[in-house]
Parts: sequence; C-alpha cells; structure tokens
Amino acid sequence: MIEEKIYNFNSHGDHRGELVALEYPKDLPFPIKRIYYIYNVPGNERRGFHSHNKLEQILIAVSGSVKILLKTPEDEKTVLLDSPKKGLYIGPMMWREMFDFSDDAVLLVLASREYDESDYIRNYEDYVKAISNMKGEGKND
Ligand code: TYD
Repeated sequence: MIEEKIYNFNSHGDHRGELVALEYPKDLPFPIKRIYYIYNVPGNERRGFHSHNKLEQILIAVSGSVKILLKTPEDEKTVLLDSPKKGLYIGPMMWREMFDFSDDAVLLVLASREYDESDYIRNYEDYVKAISNMKGEGKND
C-alpha cells in the first residue's frame, strides 16, 4: 500500500494576503539543496516517468493544480495537489508521473540533492528490476 506523505504548511494570512515560509528542520524533513519549478505545461502532457535512487523531494502546487501518480511494482496512487499549503513528500525508489496540469499550474519542487542524472531511473522495467534486486538483497540480511 502506498501511503502518501502530505505536509500541511502553515500560511500566515491577513488582509494583505498569504505567506508560507518553509524552514529546515522545523517544517521540512531535509535541508534544501535545489529548487526547480515546472509551469506552462499543456493540459494533455504527462511528465516525470522516473524514480530516483537517493533523491528526496517535496512537490507543491504553488499555483493551480496538478495530479501526481505514485507507483511501485505492487501499487499505485494518484494525489491531487491543488493548494500552496500542501506539500507531497516523495522519497527514493518511487516511480512518479505528473499530469492534468491546470493552465495556471506552477509545480514547485524542493529537492534534497543537486541535479545528478545518474540518480535517475528513467525506464520502468529497470525500476522494477532495481526494486526486486533490493528485495532480494534484503532477504539475505
Ligand atoms: P526532465 O527530467 O525531463 O523533467 P520531468 O521530470 O518533469 O519529466 O527535465 C527537463 C530538463 O531539465 C532536462 O533537460 C534536465 C533539466 N533539469 C536540470 O537541468 N536540472 C534539474 O534540476 C532538473 C530537475 C532538470
């Protein structure tokens, strides 16, 4: 079973508007090494299609909405991100796809490591093999 981990951020709101501040270790499970954001995604486009060996991330729809598919060889779950106050944690070895971006969607990603192409698994069959290898190694412990 995939249990998605959602962070509900505190927003400082008053008549001037809203402000969310995120600080490690108070609000975040890892110190941020990198941020990136994805926007102007056509509504019919799907992105992601990878997992990471080590990277941890928190995804936030700071504007608009986007759906995130979380997938393992056994299970899958779709999470709707539709609030700047909501953060979805994705840890290592989780396949993810992002889709159904609203026209105004801006997906902000907080990442625990610098960009490293060798940390990616971009082929689903390779991902399934890597998971099954990990489980095999676990059995010998
Ligand atoms: P890509 O991995 O295809 O995006 P997605 O995960 O949404 O499918 O990344 C798009 C391009 O951006 C690709 O050329 C790699 C580059 N990129 C960086 O240079 N730094 C980064 O931190 C990230 C996430 C991507």
